Amino acid sequence: MSRIPIIAANWKMHKTGTEAKAFVEQLKGLDLSSQVRIWIAPSFTALPVVTAKKTPFVFGAQNMHQADEGPFTGEISARMLKDAGADFVILGHSERRMLYQETDDLIHLKLKKAVEADLLPLLCIGETEHERAAGHTERVLAAQLTVALKDINCAEVVIAYEPVWAIGTGKAATPEMAEHMHLYCRSILADIGHERWAEQTSILYGGSVTAEAARALFQQPNVDGALVGGASLNAQTFYQIIQGVNP
Ligand code: PGA
Repeated sequence: MSRIPIIAANWKMHKTGTEAKAFVEQLKGLDLSSQVRIWIAPSFTALPVVTAKKTPFVFGAQNMHQADEGPFTGEISARMLKDAGADFVILGHSERRMLYQETDDLIHLKLKKAVEADLLPLLCIGETEHERAAGHTERVLAAQLTVALKDINCAEVVIAYEPVWAIGTGKAATPEMAEHMHLYCRSILADIGHERWAEQTSILYGGSVTAEAARALFQQPNVDGALVGGASLNAQTFYQIIQGVNP
């Protein structure tokens, strides 16, 4: 991989600040390769706890609101996340799309706001089982990328290809399948006018990544790392996935 690999943890609604801090201490104590970037997206309340001390990790959030501020009870802004120590933000996760009806247009607004606030967007895309069965995978990915990235002008965006049918199911995509879709995503990035992005953008695979699955996935030239849910909650298991980058 010519792009520096990223292994990102998406903790979803797990871990208090205290638990997050203990995880970070444990992971920090392990022998980590400097050739891998480790990203962690804890809960909002755990963010300032884990970013209070210097660590080799990059911290981010799992979602944000598209407005600067205002009467949006329970929401959080890009500026608040920045202030809490976030450097990136996950946008368009399929759980947000499905459970909170987030559309590509909304994700686009959030992405624009994240870039304005100097938060690096980690944009998640992926097809459902139904869409794959109907032969619509490529069309879905193209639409998700095209709408979310319309007129976005930033140096860096990270993409996570996460087939919805693979998330939390124990049924990861095969390395060949992931490689094929990542290559396709690069062709879309080139098509929508981001030639530079097509080559430079890190595209992570997400969906039931385990240490076993990771090694074969990371050998694919266009798989630049992983976005890990369940297996990132335990420092040892997450560490084993990180080690899969340089077997
Ligand atoms: P999983 O989740 O690794 O538990 O499948 C991945 C994700 O939702 O980002």
